[in-house]
Amino acid sequence: MADGLIGLVGIGELVTNNPELGDGSDLGIIANASILLQQTSAGPVIRYLGGDALQVNQHCEPIDLDGRAVVPGFVDSHTHLVFDGDRAEEFVARMGGRPYDGGGIATTVAATRAASDDQLRMLLRHRLTEMHRQGTTTVEIKSGYGLTVADEARSLALAREFTEETTFLGAHVVPAEYEHDRDGYVALVAVEMLQACAPYAKWVDVFCEPGSPHAFDRDEARMILRSGMSAGLRPRLHAGQLGPGPGVQLAVELDAASVDHCTYLSDDDIEALAASDTVATLLPGVEFSTRSPYSDAARLLARGITVALATDCNPGTCYSSSVGFCLALAVRELGMTPAQALWAATAGAARSLRRTDIGRLTVGGPADLTLIDGPSYLHLAYRPGVPIARAFGPP
Ligand code: NIG
Ligand code: FE
Repeated sequence: MADGLIGLVGIGELVTNNPELGDGSDLGIIANASILLQQTSAGPVIRYLGGDALQVNQHCEPIDLDGRAVVPGFVDSHTHLVFDGDRAEEFVARMGGRPYDGGGIATTVAATRAASDDQLRMLLRHRLTEMHRQGTTTVEIKSGYGLTVADEARSLALAREFTEETTFLGAHVVPAEYEHDRDGYVALVAVEMLQACAPYAKWVDVFCEPGSPHAFDRDEARMILRSGMSAGLRPRLHAGQLGPGPGVQLAVELDAASVDHCTYLSDDDIEALAASDTVATLLPGVEFSTRSPYSDAARLLARGITVALATDCNPGTCYSSSVGFCLALAVRELGMTPAQALWAATAGAARSLRRTDIGRLTVGGPADLTLIDGPSYLHLAYRPGVPIARAFGPP
């Protein structure tokens, strides 16, 4: 291509997430659109987007998308991709009625510690390719299946080979060897482990669930998050997954970018979120795979709270890498419209990472595109389980 220019024409529906464009909705939808993008050393950049095909045709021989839709690349802002092994039997037991309590995490910790770097790297690459093939272009990756200083640091170093959105989750659960010394483990996470992990991490996260013997309570979580913040990491939190608890208020107190799960929320939690910049990230694939109640997105949206959707891809509570599946669940079960669900999985998830360069399409910005094999983004929820979304370009 001349000057590395690539043109896309015949886009039936282009979702930009820029309300100043197209139909003026939050999705900023342009009908019969064209895009001109240019390869640069920093990746492909959008040079033109709009309704004038001539702007593209005069520069190159364009690719005709024949009426298909294009949306911003999905942002999967919550995953635990660094692991070996699976827990299919635990899943089967749960489908038979056994509740989830986080106890199975120990199985994945053992398998992950036993895996070589090369094995974990291969698994990561495979999972990220799988995601790219389903429309995801940005992925956040947490540690949390190492739970020793060395295993957490290598999990994050490996994740960092693939994404800048890396999260230190040494406080995932208290590992078996510290079962009788919780305080010792909390201190290890907050000092030595943090020091070893901080160079590879952007975020710090804690599984804050006082009802679970495996997870961490408010004071433990606050201490670990504050230590992470002193080391330059930014806070986010797992909270409200197994029951209502203090995690949401703590997230707001610390100005966390996101509080994730939010299956159980009190009225006070909702008010605190409404008065904050903390995004509520909903993970309906977890609720599906653990037979828990679904979170109430409509209640959050009615209070003007920013909602994100992500997969939480992990071997325990949701072994799905499909944002499309989560979108369909959000529309069917969480009370979101298809437009709200797509916005949440793109712009909302970008906001949960405090990013403005992704999650929307704009001239001068990255050509971070997902192609839909259908005439409208509506097909994402309308055709559940059908692989119609695919990220543009190589993984
Ligand atoms: O986000 N609940 C805590 N952590 C993960 C699950 C981890 C696992 O069960 O392996 C989650 O759901
Ligand atoms: Fe998680």
